Amino acid sequence: MLKVAVLVSGGGTNLQALIDSIEAGKVKNAEIVRVVSSREGVKALNRAEKAGIETVVVRKKDYADEESYCSAMLKVLSECGADLIVLAGFLSVLPASLVKEYENRIINIHPSLIPSFCGVGYYGLKVHEEALKRGVKLTGATVHFVDEGCDSGPIILQKAVSTRIDDTPETLQRRVMEEAEWKLLPEAVNLIAAGRVRVRDGKAEIS
Ligand code: GRF
Repeated sequence: MLKVAVLVSGGGTNLQALIDSIEAGKVKNAEIVRVVSSREGVKALNRAEKAGIETVVVRKKDYADEESYCSAMLKVLSECGADLIVLAGFLSVLPASLVKEYENRIINIHPSLIPSFCGVGYYGLKVHEEALKRGVKLTGATVHFVDEGCDSGPIILQKAVSTRIDDTPETLQRRVMEEAEWKLLPEAVNLIAAGRVRVRDGKAEIS
């Protein structure tokens, strides 16, 4: 059984999609052992509690430096025995040493087709605003492994979503979630739990 820790900062709809997919048996051999939030009082925490998952809040600003924040995170992750860390709308930057420690065991969902509309500053509605500004006909979502860079790790899965002439950033964000994110993230966890994803030469391969 793959033990999964999900890191969140906000609404937690991707967390919910994962909870529902595990409950429905669509994601096999995986259990969420902890939900870690970078903020107090967010809806993602309610979702976790409702599903009977233990939660913890770890706020970077409560620590004197990066090193002590990193130790606190590592403690939480090792205590719950996490094999895989899922960033589901997690808005803090993980310390490089933690990323190294969990190499190819951290995944993130990003609401665009990487390498478009990604990198520093591209999160939330900004991603969709820029996609619409550029007039792309296709956008989508990407699940990728997390490396020391920003949205630069090996790509695991991508799904395209069409833009519409009357889209606003809000309508596009919603459709990308419904049509891509909420499907891709559980699918990626399922593939990893089945041992079907490996990284070779900086690229993720699915068998
Ligand atoms: C999603 O759009 C995800 O792609 C991005 O942050 C958002 C989180 O939404 N990384 P939610 O908290 O899962 O509802």
